Amino acid sequence: MQSNLDGKIVVVTGASKGIGAGVSKELANAGAIVMLCARNTDQLNELKKEIDKENGVAHVFQLDVSSVIQINKVFKQIYDQFGRIDILINNAGLGYNHAATDVNEADWDEMMNVNLKGLFFCSQQAGKYMIKNGYGRIINMSSQAGLVAIKDHAVYCASKGGVNLLTKVLALEWAENGITVNGIAPTFTYTTGTAERLDNPEYLAGVLNRIPVGKVATIKDIFSAILYLTSEHSGMVTGSTLVIDGGWTIQ
Ligand SMILES: NC(=O)c1ccc[n+]([C@@H]2O[C@H](COP(=O)([O-])OP(=O)(O)OC[C@H]3O[C@@H](n4cnc5c(N)ncnc54)[C@H](OP(=O)(O)O)[C@@H]3O)[C@@H](O)[C@H]2O)c1
Repeated sequence: MQSNLDGKIVVVTGASKGIGAGVSKELANAGAIVMLCARNTDQLNELKKEIDKENGVAHVFQLDVSSVIQINKVFKQIYDQFGRIDILINNAGLGYNHAATDVNEADWDEMMNVNLKGLFFCSQQAGKYMIKNGYGRIINMSSQAGLVAIKDHAVYCASKGGVNLLTKVLALEWAENGITVNGIAPTFTYTTGTAERLDNPEYLAGVLNRIPVGKVATIKDIFSAILYLTSEHSGMVTGSTLVIDGGWTIQ
């Protein structure tokens, strides 16, 4: 599939590590101008250096997506500087496992504020600017945990289930403006963050036991979905969540 990312202004939230960092590098390699957003600017600056070395283009923005004031400021800054926002990858997210009886208010607020509230208000700002330009692609990072129950992940599952429905509502509201809104729902994905767990053979065996294709997802798998969902080949696809789970949720 040919990349149409060349010169596109792409905002990636949660770009400082894990999937966000990996996907940002792939986007820059494909010619996109990548806005790297997260709280940890040391990690973002390191990533920018790596992208620079490969002759890619990236810019760093400190952004805590749980703050609507910060979201509004950063998206305005990007729009004022570049004149448009073509693609938003709503990737920032976190998840802790607690039995439902042990979840406290702070756990609930932190996960909901980042995974759901932050994703909504980033979409709102990007959406306003995309409407002005009559074009946009928004991709929301969901999870298989937004489709099926995962034990001890009540809040995470609820937040990702919310993301899936929000994806549909925003797709509906903005379809007439040339904007598509879709989600990606991966299974366990190998990143620097998950490596410690997934490199443990016992842990990995437990995970693979649930994945019929017999392997975990990779950054490349996620990026392939992004390539499709931002390409002209997916112009009729909006409001959907593409499940990249090797079959976890079909059982
Ligand atoms: N890895 C998996 O197996 C997997 C599977 C399914 C879905 N997902 C989803 O994929 C996304 C990325 O996951 P990951 O595994 O790459 O996670 P990760 O390695 O823990 O990275 C999370 C990213 O989110 C950012 N973040 C957290 N809180 C933030 C905040 N308040 N404001 C802005 N950024 C914030 C972090 O940056 P700072 O700390 O610098 O702010 C970091 O860049 C998440 O939405 C996750 O739910 C992951």
